[in-house]
Amino acid sequence: MLYKARNLEELDQVAKLISSKFKKPAIVFLKGNLGVGKTAFVKSFCKNHQISERTVKSPTFSLINIYKKDHIQINHLDLYRLTKSDLYIEEELKEIALKPNAISFIEWGERMDNVEKFKNVANLYKITITNNQDNIRNITFQEL
Ligand SMILES: Nc1ncnc2c1ncn2[C@@H]1O[C@H](COP(=O)(O)OP(=O)(O)OP(=O)(O)O)[C@@H](O)[C@H]1O
Ligand SMILES: [Mg+2]
Repeated sequence: MLYKARNLEELDQVAKLISSKFKKPAIVFLKGNLGVGKTAFVKSFCKNHQISERTVKSPTFSLINIYKKDHIQINHLDLYRLTKSDLYIEEELKEIALKPNAISFIEWGERMDNVEKFKNVANLYKITITNNQDNIRNITFQEL
């Protein structure tokens, strides 16, 4: 399914449409180039759940940020800076992502090995974002 967002307001709407399809526990891989809008998608998702955009920061250095609201737990990971010494992340992900109320967003998930192992225990999704010349974000959503 392909969606288009010309600005952050439209991204809020796209995030709403896409997230209505998530079945928890959900692991959502966000794919796309540096600066394309992966974190912005998570901010829109959080905004739609009444979590202020200002509290949602990119987990560039922390690797994982967790937000709890109502009955959901949002786990936001950015593995761009993952190194061999951060292998605990995989264990931690296993622990937090498999909670029945968890939605986990993972930027740069390709830095982690064998994500397939989550396939039988969580619902996996992929969101791919590209930016065209007119600065319109094309956002595709697929179930894995
Ligand atoms: N749909 C959009 N419309 C307008 N601006 C956007 C949109 N999506 C993202 N942006 C803006 O693009 C900039 C970079 O976005 P963001 O930080 O989300 O990228 P990213 O993909 O997470 O990058 P990284 O790979 O470095 O983590 C931000 O200033 C953000 O507000
Ligand atoms: Mg980011």
